[in-house]
Amino acid sequence: MPKWLNDAVFYQIYPQSFYDSNGDGIGDINGIIEKLDYVKELGCNAIWLNPIYDSPFMDAGYDVRNYKLVAPRYGTNDDLVRLFDKAHEKGMKILLDLVPGHTSDTHEWFQKAKKAEKSEVSNRYIFTDSVWEAPPQYRLMCGICERDGNYLVNYFSSQPALNYGFDKVTHPDWQLPCDHPDCLATAEALKDIMRFWLSKGADGFRVDMADSLVKNDDEKYATAKIWRGVREMLDKEFPDAALVAEWCHPQRAINDAGFHMDFYLDHHGNGYSKLFRYDKWGDKAVFNPNGKGDLKSFADEYLPQYKLTKNNGYISFMTNNHDMPRISAYHDKQTIKLINAFIFTMPGVPFLYYGDEIGMRYQKGLVSKEGGFSRTGSRTPMQWTSSKNLGFSTNDETYLPVDASADAPTVENQKNDPDSIYRVVTDLIALRHKYDDLKGNGELEFLYDENKIPFAYKRGNLVMYFNPLGTQYEMNTQYSGETVYKIGDAEFADGKIKMQPQSFVMIKI
Ligand code: NOJ
Repeated sequence: MPKWLNDAVFYQIYPQSFYDSNGDGIGDINGIIEKLDYVKELGCNAIWLNPIYDSPFMDAGYDVRNYKLVAPRYGTNDDLVRLFDKAHEKGMKILLDLVPGHTSDTHEWFQKAKKAEKSEVSNRYIFTDSVWEAPPQYRLMCGICERDGNYLVNYFSSQPALNYGFDKVTHPDWQLPCDHPDCLATAEALKDIMRFWLSKGADGFRVDMADSLVKNDDEKYATAKIWRGVREMLDKEFPDAALVAEWCHPQRAINDAGFHMDFYLDHHGNGYSKLFRYDKWGDKAVFNPNGKGDLKSFADEYLPQYKLTKNNGYISFMTNNHDMPRISAYHDKQTIKLINAFIFTMPGVPFLYYGDEIGMRYQKGLVSKEGGFSRTGSRTPMQWTSSKNLGFSTNDETYLPVDASADAPTVENQKNDPDSIYRVVTDLIALRHKYDDLKGNGELEFLYDENKIPFAYKRGNLVMYFNPLGTQYEMNTQYSGETVYKIGDAEFADGKIKMQPQSFVMIKI
């Protein structure tokens, strides 16, 4: 287990929208290098970079054409190595995004595999035997290759699924078992890509759709077995490298597959959404001031998984990511502050999505860009200053439109505002680094008041109290002590804490 993870706070960078250093309207690697000190000042000591590989960008780079080449619009492989080096000089780590489940249909493997002529990569993807064979349970593309048969896609139509085999083989004529040499070769090709970047200085990977490798793998144990093999390779060859899964099933991802971290997202019935979003616009979220949320249903899901995995890895909460509307689409400023207080004081390894530290707004109604669809509004350019394009680029056109509202938050105005989200985020991250009890593996005990909101939790000698409600609330507590941090206000008296509406208090007992 890489030791650095226990005190890691990640910053997620969507490269095309972060900072444009060469004035072409698209963010780039040199732009990220220029902004490393900014990320460090936030208190983040690690970065997850969304895909930076050569791609036709039908899915914003999750459709990889060449895993070993940086997309020219972001720079060169040498630029990326320079980013690794500069980050390391500043004590920071860089995780790349690994896309193991599919490639772009323009990848050379697929270009070769779709030909009628057999080659060493004919089984790298999953083709049925004949174009007339299209079992409805699979997402198949049909009638577009020289080769006979239809092929499975993993996500969009341009993303053919890589072949790691089938756990339950139901069509032996075209489905290979996982231990077929060609399926094992796919896993080896994946390791080869990982070694390529790790040996150049990458510190690990965020793994896209990590649970999607083996098909007909209901419990995902066969997929987990492949990752175990990857983990063994890392432990031997790159013991300091970290893997975070987009799996959202910590028990499977951490305990079985050997990931160091797993994102706690809204898949598999996890309660991320119950806390922050829930139904369409957050009406039943725990953090909504209306009190319609259900904390118990979050805790009943989260706590067993936390207990089962805490000795083996970390569950990662995130402020947002590039796949969901920003939290600002759901909640007011005070609620967003409280949400940050939660994310940065829970166990695990937290992730901050670029722009969330200044409360960047979800841009509704944008035309889809590079397969973004409703996600496009969370992918707009970072807002730095009040100058042209809010400091993102000097070009007239930008990758996506910059927030045009007169009061668009920027780093410049948020830094100078003592009441800003930026202040809360940076204060909380600093506290996380300061107190061992707040670190990734520190203890956690949920304290309920009849399973209701408000709620509290204890981490070692620190107790966190949250009142997300729009009303004042009194809750029983056996603890008292020095106030370490607060948002809003609260008073302790006679075994109770009286909390003002939408408040948070951290005490040291
Ligand atoms: C999850 C990624 O986060 C998302 O952006 C992408 O579209 C899909 N996986 C497919 O790779």
